[in-house]
Amino acid sequence: MSAREQVLGKAHEMLQNSSGPGGEFTGWVKLPANYDKVEFERIKGAAKKIQTDSQVLVVIGIGGSYLGARAVIELLCSHNYNLKRKGTPDVLFVGNTLSTDAVLEVMSLIGERDFSINVISKSGTTTEPAVAFRVFKGLLEAKYGKRAAAKRIYATTDKSRGALKTLADTEGYETFVVPDDIGGRYSVLTAVGLLPIAVAGVDIDKLMSGAAQAMDELAQPGLDNVGWQYAAARHALYEDGKRIEILACYEPGFRFFAEWWKQLYGESEGKDGKGLFPASVEFTADLHSMGQYIQDGHRNLFETVIHFEQPRGKLLIPTDPDNVDGLNFLAGKTLAFVNEQALRGTILAHVEGGVPNVLMTLPCIEAQSVGWFIYFFEYVCGLSGYLLGVNPFDQPGVEAYKKNMFALLGKPGYEDRKAQLEAML
Ligand code: PA5
Repeated sequence: MSAREQVLGKAHEMLQNSSGPGGEFTGWVKLPANYDKVEFERIKGAAKKIQTDSQVLVVIGIGGSYLGARAVIELLCSHNYNLKRKGTPDVLFVGNTLSTDAVLEVMSLIGERDFSINVISKSGTTTEPAVAFRVFKGLLEAKYGKRAAAKRIYATTDKSRGALKTLADTEGYETFVVPDDIGGRYSVLTAVGLLPIAVAGVDIDKLMSGAAQAMDELAQPGLDNVGWQYAAARHALYEDGKRIEILACYEPGFRFFAEWWKQLYGESEGKDGKGLFPASVEFTADLHSMGQYIQDGHRNLFETVIHFEQPRGKLLIPTDPDNVDGLNFLAGKTLAFVNEQALRGTILAHVEGGVPNVLMTLPCIEAQSVGWFIYFFEYVCGLSGYLLGVNPFDQPGVEAYKKNMFALLGKPGYEDRKAQLEAML
């Protein structure tokens, strides 16, 4: 057995047995089999109610309580989801920013329409969503009255602790649980992601079934395990001096999936002075902006390219008798064929330019394979953290900005830090 296989085996065992650093946060490893089936049915029921009584669902959350839902909705429904004519409510995300203009814009986008709120926070105390919840809860209560508004608020939070749980119990909101043993960035397949995703009309049974398939496949140890292969490749490249992994896809709907992936890997690996910096590009658009750097800049990059083979529709390039643009050599070809040649040509160019490429091919974009993909990336992330020698399930670095922000805002208990910071400023 090679040294690489041995370390992968050890990392794999730590994930499977919850015996590595942060093992108390590995509930997601068996989640596709062990999830709470009763709550799952409640999620579907709540989604149906929201689809019936609301034209807009306002989803309040940040980081792991935000990106997964948006990633799946944009990938499976469309990055133009809210612009489309559809039989499901618009889904507007807030609580992921402190920008006044962004929050005001969401308020005006709701307008006079009927809406509900899904407020999501595991800790129940994160500032950005807590502030947004105050604002949008106020709007909802002004529109429907306190009692009726409470029937339109769904809180996804810890099962027993935190300010949000206390508020939900006091006000009588329907609540969903973020399991104790699952951290925010690994929580998309819990109620955190599933409720907004179901409201957008995605088949969450299929999503979970794809994840369960990945769980079974990736539980098999050995070098045939595709999770081991990806983890080994990224680790070998890191050891070889690569410092940035760029996730590239040729589908605009993938943009937020890449954002979710960046949080997953950045927060899991970027610690103790180590870790690949996760970046993303949307091709072919970014070939005309970032392509130069990737081809020719610092050689500390590698790319992971995601290719979905079959688009949902078919578009043929028309013939033009005048052929002034000289494009008749493409006439009769599908746009998918052109996109694929762009992908192939780019991989060859970038590899030739000194940027190694990892290519992942999926047949098409549908719920089952997206569920598979989510679990795959989570599993590889856990493996990668252990290969790197870090705890992939904590995020101590996130606290630094929070402490300073609380101090500058004058939160009680932060008086000394406030004085220090003001002297520094
Ligand atoms: O992955 C994580 O743990 C973080 O991104 C959290 O999800 C994020 O900070 C939001 O935390 P909370 O859900 O407690 O509001």
